[in-house]
Amino acid sequence: MEQQLLQLAVSAREELDRCTTQASLEEFRIEYLGRKGRFSTIMRGLGAVAAADRPRIGQAANQVKAEVEALFVTRKEQLAESGNTRRHGLDFSLPGRKPVSGRLHPVSQVMQETCAIFASLGFAVAEGPDVEVDYYNFEALNIPPHHPARDMHDTFYFSESLLLRTHTSPMQARIMESRQPPLRVIAPGKVYRCDSDITHTPMFHQVEGFLVEKEVSFADLKGVLTIFTEKMFGKDLPLRFRPSFFPFTEPSAEVDIACVICQGSGCRVCKKSGWLEILGSGMIDPEVFRMVGYDPQVYSGFAFGLGIERIAMLKYGIDDIRLFYENDQRFLTQF
Ligand code: PHE
Repeated sequence: MEQQLLQLAVSAREELDRCTTQASLEEFRIEYLGRKGRFSTIMRGLGAVAAADRPRIGQAANQVKAEVEALFVTRKEQLAESGNTRRHGLDFSLPGRKPVSGRLHPVSQVMQETCAIFASLGFAVAEGPDVEVDYYNFEALNIPPHHPARDMHDTFYFSESLLLRTHTSPMQARIMESRQPPLRVIAPGKVYRCDSDITHTPMFHQVEGFLVEKEVSFADLKGVLTIFTEKMFGKDLPLRFRPSFFPFTEPSAEVDIACVICQGSGCRVCKKSGWLEILGSGMIDPEVFRMVGYDPQVYSGFAFGLGIERIAMLKYGIDDIRLFYENDQRFLTQF
């Protein structure tokens, strides 16, 4: 009889799990707990049990009954609950959604780090407008109308004289025009060019830097930029100064850094060259000084313009610049 009671408890549990409606639950109640139900049927055999065993078996029977009744009540409540939630179109049993905390975009991080390095070298920060006039973006930088150097920039124009700045260099002219040397300034910001592929986006970030004093030499430029790359990438990364041309600097150089994606062996990011350009630089052209009213016989200076996305790509080994602007959490949360 004890065996029968135990089996009853087991099958009641299984049966209850299968009950998904109030009607099937009622059927269960009648079959198991009803007056003519399984439990009562077993209990009818109690009279035949030896008198000595009767108290023990009676107690076991009470326990089984209480247990089945408790399971029944629980199941009834569960069903009522899910009926409610379904009625409201909600399922309160679903797991919650974790709130995601934001963090600085990798471009912002590298921007801040870059500014901090130059600030430690005594550069002050200045910001200028994204919508720029032709004069500062080109003319004040020794790029007159129809100068072929304008082709280097794929400019977004609003009108003949209003445009989205194609570089942060207009800040050289704006600052020099309004202040006197000695100057040591960086100008971080967004710049725009009609260009898009794995290493170019139509909007990207630059940090312009320039220093104007008496007797500034190319060695000073090399020194400052070498300190910058060492602080940004560590001392082991090869660096090269490659002769170049900008209308507002003379002589000019572009700085390349060994491609960290392929370690210099050539990949799609460095276009098989093993090097990646991170900045343009040079000694400020005497013509630029003349236009802002500085005497080129007295003052000399250097300037550079860094591409922040490029630096971030190298620092983190990212092989497609467009990833920065897709706002995919899986990408952004890695930094
Ligand atoms: N403005 C140049 C560019 O965007 C970079 C540059 C800045 C070059 C300052 C020389 C001096 O390509």
